[in-house]
Amino acid sequence: MKRGIFITFEGPEGSGKTTHSRLLCDFLRKRGFRVLHTREPGGTLISEKIRKILLDPKNKGMDAGCEILLYMAARAQIVKQKILPALEKNKIVVCDRFTDATLAYQGYAGGMDIKIIKNIAGIITKGLKPDITFLLDIDAKAGLLRAGRTKDRMERKSILYHNKVRNGYLQIAEKEPGRVKVISATVEIQKTQERIRKIILSNIKQTGFGILELCHSRI
Ligand code: TMP
Repeated sequence: MKRGIFITFEGPEGSGKTTHSRLLCDFLRKRGFRVLHTREPGGTLISEKIRKILLDPKNKGMDAGCEILLYMAARAQIVKQKILPALEKNKIVVCDRFTDATLAYQGYAGGMDIKIIKNIAGIITKGLKPDITFLLDIDAKAGLLRAGRTKDRMERKSILYHNKVRNGYLQIAEKEPGRVKVISATVEIQKTQERIRKIILSNIKQTGFGILELCHSRI
């Protein structure tokens, strides 16, 4: 039974997800909310080990089927071990990437069937979907430049692949405008963060979640 709020951050490489999710968590904690900040792939001992395999440039010969199943395996573990228990305890869970990343990367860019991805994800996440997703949008090339010199296995994929990732994300957002908020990642960090906070605070207000959660954290 889910009671907390599940927030995800998505975007092409170098879009600033980690910075913005961390700033949002600091902001929410200062307001008295209990927050779990985590990432995908990763967030548990097992999932972090899977992350290492996935991102290691030495594994450049990885088969597409192997790749997608490893992402799903990492997800199965973090959902069961961390995300669902935190939501059941009324926490706000902020996760860098989730199933939308599999749709954008392995689906829209990698060519895997979208329906099949959704089916597998539905099974391993027990139907869990984010309440709100921030899609930090940036041109793929500009994002890769920002991401730095030492590139991991995913960042080393072609610019064509990364353009498809970005377009895939934008298609997901178009299909679910209520959940996925597209935010330009090219304006000042402070301005972007203000927009993110506004959206979250208005969601908390609308759902009445704040009152319940703050009462719990004071008991
Ligand atoms: P990041 O934590 O720096 O974003 O690295 C994770 C990488 O893995 C990034 O290139 C996106 C990619 N990824 C997928 O391809 N599929 C997925 O399902 C997830 C969660 C991430």
